[in-house]
Amino acid sequence: MPEDILVAIAWPYANAEIHVGNITGSHLPGDIVARYHRLKGNRVLMVSGTDSHGTPVTLKADALGKPVEAVYQEYHAGFLELFQQLGITYDLFTTTHTENHFKVAQSVFLALKENGFLFTQKSMQWYSPAARRFLPDRYVEGRCYICGADGARSDQCDACGNVLEPEKLINPRARTGDGALKLRETEHYYLDLSKLEPEVKEFLRQRAGWMRETVLGESLGKIEAEGLKPRPITRDLDWGIPVPVEGWEGKCLYVWFEAVIGYLSAPIEWSRLSGQDKAWHAWWVNPAARQFYFIGKDNIFFHTSLWPAELMGAGEQFMKIFAGESGRLTVPYDVPANQFMNLEGQKISGSRNWAVWGRDALRRYDPDALRYYLTVNMPELRDTDWDWADFVARNNNELVAAWGNLANRVLSFCYKHWEGHVPTVALETLHPVDRELLAVIESGFETVGRELEAVHLRAALQEAMRLASEVNKYLDAAAPWFQIKTDKDEAAKSIYTALRAIDSLKIMLAPFLPFTCQRLHEFFGYEKPLFGEQYTETVRDALGEHTVLRYRGVEGMQWKPSELPPGAKLNPPAPLYKKLDESIIAEERARLGKEPETN
Ligand code: MF3
Ligand code: ZN
Repeated sequence: MPEDILVAIAWPYANAEIHVGNITGSHLPGDIVARYHRLKGNRVLMVSGTDSHGTPVTLKADALGKPVEAVYQEYHAGFLELFQQLGITYDLFTTTHTENHFKVAQSVFLALKENGFLFTQKSMQWYSPAARRFLPDRYVEGRCYICGADGARSDQCDACGNVLEPEKLINPRARTGDGALKLRETEHYYLDLSKLEPEVKEFLRQRAGWMRETVLGESLGKIEAEGLKPRPITRDLDWGIPVPVEGWEGKCLYVWFEAVIGYLSAPIEWSRLSGQDKAWHAWWVNPAARQFYFIGKDNIFFHTSLWPAELMGAGEQFMKIFAGESGRLTVPYDVPANQFMNLEGQKISGSRNWAVWGRDALRRYDPDALRYYLTVNMPELRDTDWDWADFVARNNNELVAAWGNLANRVLSFCYKHWEGHVPTVALETLHPVDRELLAVIESGFETVGRELEAVHLRAALQEAMRLASEVNKYLDAAAPWFQIKTDKDEAAKSIYTALRAIDSLKIMLAPFLPFTCQRLHEFFGYEKPLFGEQYTETVRDALGEHTVLRYRGVEGMQWKPSELPPGAKLNPPAPLYKKLDESIIAEERARLGKEPETN
C-alpha cells in the first residue's frame, strides 16, 4: 500500500540568499527523503515557500531602500533558480504572500478563537515617537535580561537561545536609528499555549521513540522544565496578513504564527493548481499520513510546540470554517531538525560574506558534487564544518575514485569489448562469488532503505558507498581486464555481475545524487526516467502575481534490485564526476569575507 508522505521544509525568509548551511539544514535532507519515498512508489508531497512577511523582510527592504514587495519577489526568484539547479524537487514552492495563504491562515486564527484558545491583552511595546510607529521586536536590540549578552533582539537572544519578553530588554535601542524609544500601550491577541500544554506534551511523548534526542530535549525537555506560556500572535505592522476581526485594522498576524500555516496552505494551493481540489486531504485529513518537517535547530520550538498547538487547538473547527466539512487536521509525525554547518571554523554570516552561497557555488561546481559533500557532512546530530580542503578530498577520493570511476571503468570496458551491449550471459552460469556479490548489494535496498526511513541520511549514504567499495573489491579479485585476454566468457560473467551491481547502486544513490544517477541510468539504456521534472508557473490572484516551482512526477516503484537484461543495448558512457584541482582550496578561501562579486 502506498503511503502518504508530506515533506515539509522550513520557509526561507525573503531577506537573504540561501547558503550551504541552509541547504544542508533543511532543503537537501527534505529532497533526499522525498526522492526516496517517490522511488518507493509512495504518494509524496514536498512543499515550502518564501516567508515573505515579518520584520526580517521589512528590515531588509528598509536597508535597501526598496519596496518590500519588490524585495520579496527578488529573493523568491533567486530561490526558484537555486532549487532548479540543485534539484530540490518541490511539488510546490510558493510564497506566504498569496490570497490562498491569507485565507487559510485567517481560518486557523478564527478556529482557535472560536475554540477559546485566544484572548486579547494590552501590553507595553517599544514605540518611536520620531517615526510615529511601534517598533517590531526585531528592530529593537539591547542587553539580554537572562544571560546579560549585548546585541539580543527584543524577542530572542541568540547568545542563550531564549525567547524574550520584549519589554524586559535592558538598554533598548532601534536598529533603524529611529531615535529614543518609549514604552507605549497596545493591544494584541494571544494564543493561550498554557491551555494547550497537556496536549502538546502528550504529542511529544508519543514521538519519543523516533524523534531525535536533540529535538526532544529542546522541546519536551524545555516544556517540562518551564511550561508553555501564552504568546502574542498579532503585531502592529502593515506588511503581512490582516487580523480577521473588526476593529483590528492596521494589525497583522505574527509572522511565525502564519508562516507555519504554509505547510497546510501550500498543499491546498497545490491541489487547486492540479485541478483536484480535495487532494490535500491525503496529507492533512488522514491520521495515517506521515508528515516530516525539515528545519534548522533555531526553528525547533515553532515546529514541535507552536505548530502542533495551532493544529490541535484549531481542531475540527478549521475544516468547518475553511471548507464547510468535518474532519481533524493531521499533526506532524517527525521533526528531524538539524544542527548548524559552520564554514572554515567560523559561524556562517551573510553580512560578513562568510558564506558559500548556493547559486554562486553552482557556477563552479556540479550539483551532485555539492549534494555529496553536504550529505556526508550533514549536521544531523552536531554542528559540522564546511572545509574547502575536505570538500576537494571527499570529492576526489570518494565520489570520483570509489563510485564514479567504478561506474565509468566497468561501463567503458563493457561498451568497448561487447560492442555497446551488456554481455549475453546465462544467469544460471554465474559463479557463487558473483551471486554473493549481488546478494550483498541487493541487501542494500533493505539497509540503506531503513536508514532513509529513519532520516539517518549520512548513515544511508555511507552504507551505499560501502556497498560500492564491495564492488571494487570484487573487481580487484575477478580482474576481468586480464580475464578477457584468456577467457572472454569468464570476463563476461564478471562484467555482467559488476554492471548489475552498479545498476542497483544507482537506485540507492539516486536520492542523493539525482543528476549523475539519471545519466548513468541513460548509459544503461533505460528510457523511463528515475524522477520527474521541475518547472515554474505564474499564478495570478487578488494580491498580484507569483511564480511557483512545481514538479511533475513519474509513476511506479523503482526502489528494487536491478534485473539488468543480458544483451541489453547500452549508450556510450562518459565520466560522471570531475576531479577537482587542489588549487581551488586557496581560491575559495580567498573569497571568504570579501565583497561578493557582482555578476
Ligand atoms: N523563515 C524562517 C527562517 O528562515 C523559517 C520559517 S519556517 C515556517 O528561520 F514554517 F514557519 F515557515
Ligand atoms: Zn541571553
